[in-house]
Amino acid sequence: MLMNILSLQNADLSNKTVFLRCDINSPINPRDLSILDKSRLIEVASTIRKLNNCKLVVASHQGRLGKSDYISMNQHAITLSELLDRTVKFVPDVIGPAVITEIQNMDNGDILLLDNLRFLAEENSEMSPEHAVNSHLVKKLSPYFDVCVLDAFSTSHRSHPSIVGFAELMPAYAGTIVEGEVKALQNIVQNPDMKFTAILGGAKIPDRLKSIQKLINAGRIEKTLLGGLIGNTFLAASEQVPLSSTSIDDKNSIQTAKSLLEQYPDKFILAEDVAVEVDRKRTEKKLVDVDPSDKIFDIGAITIQNFSQQIDHAENIFITGPLGMFENQEFRLGTVEILNKLANSNAKTITSGGHLSAVLEQLQLKDKIYHVSTAGGALIRYLTGEELPLLQALNNSATRYNQR
Ligand code: 3PG
Repeated sequence: MLMNILSLQNADLSNKTVFLRCDINSPINPRDLSILDKSRLIEVASTIRKLNNCKLVVASHQGRLGKSDYISMNQHAITLSELLDRTVKFVPDVIGPAVITEIQNMDNGDILLLDNLRFLAEENSEMSPEHAVNSHLVKKLSPYFDVCVLDAFSTSHRSHPSIVGFAELMPAYAGTIVEGEVKALQNIVQNPDMKFTAILGGAKIPDRLKSIQKLINAGRIEKTLLGGLIGNTFLAASEQVPLSSTSIDDKNSIQTAKSLLEQYPDKFILAEDVAVEVDRKRTEKKLVDVDPSDKIFDIGAITIQNFSQQIDHAENIFITGPLGMFENQEFRLGTVEILNKLANSNAKTITSGGHLSAVLEQLQLKDKIYHVSTAGGALIRYLTGEELPLLQALNNSATRYNQR
């Protein structure tokens, strides 16, 4: 049975003013600040299509304070308008008078996108729902909303005012992304005996190190296969290649990887060969042959073979992040081969993150994967069995409003 939530499937939100907390936080090109991957916007567009005859106020965060992806949301509004073929009006403000005036002037069918929620200091810190009710965001805007729809599954691990505050004051419905994720995953999450082979790639190194530790501690991991920059961090920690070839300079992460390798020697499988760039072309090398001047950009053919054998023996697989620099044609082989292998294996595979979702889309393999999620850290927390504040908020709301 699906957890206790108010579902949009049985809801008529016509004529209501609806606050939709979604997650369209997207990878941003640091050079021109353009959106690099639209997967989350595409997903959210399908939730918005279900919210037709209401006044819809959409809000999300983008990036983290101090990082180059911490930007305004105007191009998100343009992209959503294109995807929906409807006007999505952008207001460059979050709680100021301009927002209030815009909301008061909305008609049914109008869509308004607020600016980056994290432009408000309070949206950068965790707080209890009771505190969130007294945040500026919730105090200023809640009088204008009839209901909220929580669809930010990929931010469901953050107890921020926009995630847990509104739900204390009005009915909170699960958006279609949240409902889909919970439907696909709750049986797995609730079964403590379910174990995974994890395939970790990508670049969010400190986050990934914490996640793998959490999953191992939760007893969820059989083996961890490593590629991408997180794989390079472990290669650096194992001292099998020159440090300069890994492009990793975060000593703390290397130290954490070293401790993990010492603590759980049988849980990790590192690359045995890698692809480096020579004259702009892919050249594969065994680890012993890697030179200090080389840069490792992908796993090699022997490693692809090893990982494929592990996949053959796995029942459940969780994969997050690309296994190499997949944006470059020369170095997408590892990611493409492993995704192909997963699509054709008997294992139940869960993929995590927008990059993998985009590659699966290009390869037309999405339908062959058990569950494709654009969520990252939140999904891992969910798989460890941890309670997520957004799901808790939905649960509480359903209990409150079903009883009336
Ligand atoms: C994500 O991309 O994982 C979510 O948008 C949450 O972002 P955060 O890790 O910066 O809170």
